[in-house]
Amino acid sequence: MWDNEVGASKAAARFWCDKIRDGARVLCLATGNTPTAFYKEWTASMQQDSVVASLTTFNLDEYWGIPAGHPGSFRQYMELNLFKPLGLQSDQIHFLPSSLPRAEDTEWDICQRYEEEIRRAGGIDLCLLGIGANGHIGFNEPGSAADGGTHLVALTEKTRRSNQTAFEGPPPERALTMGLKTIMTSREIVLLAFGAQKSKAIHEAFFGPMSEACPASVLQRHPSVTAFLDREAAHHLPAYRS
Ligand code: PGA
Repeated sequence: MWDNEVGASKAAARFWCDKIRDGARVLCLATGNTPTAFYKEWTASMQQDSVVASLTTFNLDEYWGIPAGHPGSFRQYMELNLFKPLGLQSDQIHFLPSSLPRAEDTEWDICQRYEEEIRRAGGIDLCLLGIGANGHIGFNEPGSAADGGTHLVALTEKTRRSNQTAFEGPPPERALTMGLKTIMTSREIVLLAFGAQKSKAIHEAFFGPMSEACPASVLQRHPSVTAFLDREAAHHLPAYRS
C-alpha cells in the first residue's frame, strides 16, 4: 500500500520490470485510467533496453462494434501510452479486434483464435489487471463464470458510464474480453487499484466470499497475485482500516 497513485505506480513498474529482467516474456496488459502512470514508469525504465524486442503482448479486452483505430478504442490507448513510447513492433502485439476482421468470421472464431495464440506463445507469464468498481477484471462483469474463456460480453450501465469520457456519443454496449479462466492461467498477476471508488471492490475481491458477484474474487484461488494499492483503495482492508 502506498500513499498515492504515483508511489504505487512506480513500485509496480519496478516490480514488473524486475520480472521481465528475470525472464517474463509473454505479457497480458490492461487499459483504463489506472495503468497510465504505470506505463509511463515502465517506458522510462525500459525504453532503451534490448529486452523489449523479446516481449510478446496480449491485451485483456477491446470494445466491440467500433471501427478499428477509433480514438476511444483500447488499441489507441495502448498505442499512445505504451506501444509507441516503448517501441513495441506490431508483430509483438496481440489485440482482440473491435469488429469482424473478415465477413466469414464469427465472434466465437475470433475468441477461439485469441486463446490459440496465447497457447502458441507459451501462455501468459505476467498479467496486469485493473479492477472495476463493480469487481470486474478485464471486462468480466458480475455474473461471469470462473471457467469462461475469451468471449463477447454485454457491458453493464455502470461500466459504460465510467468509460463514457473516451466517447463523444454513447459508449459501446459490448466488448470482447479474455475470460476469467484465461486470466487465471497467467503464471503471475499484478493488480493495480487507486481511489476510494475501488475500495469496496478490493475488499470484496480479497476478503469477501469467492462469488460471481465479484469476478475479481476468483483471484483468491491464484497462487501469485501482487496488488499495488493507494491508501484510498486499501481503506476497507482489515490491516489498513483507519
Ligand atoms: P479504470 O478501469 O482504470 O478506468 O478505473 C479499470 C477497469 O475497469 O478494469
